[in-house]
Amino acid sequence: MNPGAKAEFSDYKESAEYIRAKLEAKLEAKPDIAIILGSGLGGFADRLEDSVVIPYREIPHFPVSTVSYQKGELVFGKLGDSHVLAMNGRFHYYEGWEMWQTAYPVGVFKLLGIDKMIITNAAGGIGYNDTRTLRPGDLVCVTDQIKLAPMSPLRGANIEDFGPRFFDMQSVFDPELRRVAENVAAEQGFSLKEGVYAYMAGPQYETPAEIRALKLLGANLVGMSTVAENIFAAQLGIRVLCISCVSNMAAGITGAAITEQEVLDVTSEISEKFEALVTGVIERLATETKA
Ligand code: HPA
Repeated sequence: MNPGAKAEFSDYKESAEYIRAKLEAKLEAKPDIAIILGSGLGGFADRLEDSVVIPYREIPHFPVSTVSYQKGELVFGKLGDSHVLAMNGRFHYYEGWEMWQTAYPVGVFKLLGIDKMIITNAAGGIGYNDTRTLRPGDLVCVTDQIKLAPMSPLRGANIEDFGPRFFDMQSVFDPELRRVAENVAAEQGFSLKEGVYAYMAGPQYETPAEIRALKLLGANLVGMSTVAENIFAAQLGIRVLCISCVSNMAAGITGAAITEQEVLDVTSEISEKFEALVTGVIERLATETKA
């Protein structure tokens, strides 16, 4: 795939056909749900049984993740009664990919027949004087997003097979999936927080003034991923559950420097709780679909 030139519908179809052949050869099944694993959260893929692993570099037209600690592979396997397609490693604008490339896999999911997606990330928590404050270790259900950066993954020629050029963004974060996640968290003994996620292009973390600005806008999470995938999912009619793991207080709140190591350490500390939540959600969805 060349940076710059936008993909054609046939490219997405070729990626999907390659993946479909691998999945059917191994499990004779199609995915019930996709999950995109954020920084430090890749361990979830190890929970999938009878799995087949497809490195991104083998998939025609697929981008290849350049973040060193992210694996860059699709893992397809069983979790209880569900067949799950996990993306272990995602694409960020700060790596040099175009916005549409960071969202490319979501178009492929659609062609694989996937209609539900769990998308996860590590994020900074923004402090308020009330319950909106999010702290390191919190698991948060994203209820809305703010993307002030100008580029959209759908800028340029619209692929009509994927949906209309102009589409609604008010119901991206599926209320039913949110309800399931909140219930599962409560049963697991904690309350899932809610947050509005603000996208910053990075790779630098924010300045204190930028965080104060985001706070005025009503965001309580900040991160460098996720929003492009969610926008494409909205066009495609894929239902989204978006979960953030708060890895640090955002800039200017504690005065401490924010480091990539801190982000990874905190997400790995809460990864077990995160994995249990996501596993519970997928199992619950399987039961509810059957009922
Ligand atoms: N800012 C942006 N992205 C992030 C942060 C942050 O504070 N923490 C984890 N990802």
